[in-house]
Amino acid sequence: MPATVILGGHWGDEGKGKVIDLLAPDFEYNVRYSGGANAGHTVVNEHGSFALHQVPSGVLHGGLTAMLAAGTVVDPRALLAEMDELRQRGVSFDRFYISERAHLVLPYHYALDVAMEQYRAGARIGTTGKGIGPAYADKASRDGLRVGDLLDKSRFVHLLEGAVASANRRLASYGAEPVDRSSLVEESLEWAEHLRPYICDVERDLRRAHAAGRSILLEGAQGALLDLDSGSYPFVTSSSTGAAGACVSAGLPPSAVTKVISVMHAYMTRVGAGPFPTEANDAAGEHIRTKGNEFGTTTGRARRCGWFDAVASRYAVEVNGVSSLALTKLDVLDGLETVKLCVGYEVKGKRLESPPPSVHVLGQAQPVYEEVAGWETPTAGAGSWEELPKQAQAYVRRIEELMGVPAGIISVGPARSQTIVLSDVLG
Ligand code: GDP
Ligand code: IMO
Ligand code: MG
Repeated sequence: MPATVILGGHWGDEGKGKVIDLLAPDFEYNVRYSGGANAGHTVVNEHGSFALHQVPSGVLHGGLTAMLAAGTVVDPRALLAEMDELRQRGVSFDRFYISERAHLVLPYHYALDVAMEQYRAGARIGTTGKGIGPAYADKASRDGLRVGDLLDKSRFVHLLEGAVASANRRLASYGAEPVDRSSLVEESLEWAEHLRPYICDVERDLRRAHAAGRSILLEGAQGALLDLDSGSYPFVTSSSTGAAGACVSAGLPPSAVTKVISVMHAYMTRVGAGPFPTEANDAAGEHIRTKGNEFGTTTGRARRCGWFDAVASRYAVEVNGVSSLALTKLDVLDGLETVKLCVGYEVKGKRLESPPPSVHVLGQAQPVYEEVAGWETPTAGAGSWEELPKQAQAYVRRIEELMGVPAGIISVGPARSQTIVLSDVLG
């Protein structure tokens, strides 16, 4: 059975949590493949609203095996707190596993994240402050500590002492407070004891599961436009958020993945800095922010909002080999007189059909808009395609046309029931 990737097609917060929760019952494995506690995936079910940060979004179903793959970064303190909170709400971790190969996010990564942002004068990324960049930087420079290192106590203490000394030298160069080594050593030994039962060779187990025909859902975090390589660098995250990154992270061959579902909102949002050609700093943008409750799940920051950018979204479709879309938050556009779609960029009078590699150039891009009729009738109560207002149907069809792939799922509200399934996206 081929593996399926579900990823965000924009700059994150597209509603991946909702879509993964919806499709999770069809899978035996749910594997998070990128990022760490910077993510916030919301699942709304009969027990309330859940904000998942490191734990895979399908975990609420209980029936599947949930895993954190090698390409994620694991913050033990935050993960244990998240697991405790979920346990109190009845979630089981009997079939939860963490890759030995995943790198650790430690308190000094948080301190470095904050310190480095302060010195990015004028060009702050607006990170989540969760230590993500410094943790992946340590991984790339081969100075990182991995989850598997927790398994050998004396070796881990030795590695951690060296890592803290190195981090403190870097923190001192930023004029930041050092991290206390002995309390961190003590705390991390507790983490090791708590996490030990969950740590294993996840990638080996996934290859075996794949060979045995098990169904695997690879869950992306962040979004395609935040990918370290293909995103709007440097205003990106530090991991490979795309479909190819899923294979690298999970230790699966690229041929294992045959379906890629891209979750996209019916408009755009972005948290943090970086070019955003269709940003709407006007009443329409405010309508989207208020109606869509566009405030960060992880940091509470107000999200920047704007019109659907078909240039950036089509790029995400092409880079990731997207097979179908899950178009979310259509209801948020209810009540707008007209709705705009960006179908091209213009830079200094020249038309661009694809995002330029340079953010400097992207920052100059003027959106070329198509304006279509909005709809008054709320879509939130629609249970089928036929119940959607004609204008909303036309809007969805135009997005499909511009993306070159069908929308298999349309979401018209946060709850599972507020979903229109148009085709068997997994079939
Ligand atoms: P993720 O990071 O991609 O999982 O997305 P977030 O959970 O950070 O943000 C999406 C927000 O939109 C959450 O609060 C969801 O409950 C909510 N949501 C998801 N789908 C819809 C939808 O179709 N309509 C509305 N109004 N809200 C939605
Ligand atoms: P989910 O999975 C939205 C953004 C940050 C910042 C940039 C770098 O919930 O969609 P980082 O802390 O990763 O170094 O920050 O990336 N960012 C997200 N934006 N949703 C996310 O996750 C994000 N994870 C990181 O706002 O602009
Ligand atoms: Mg989110």
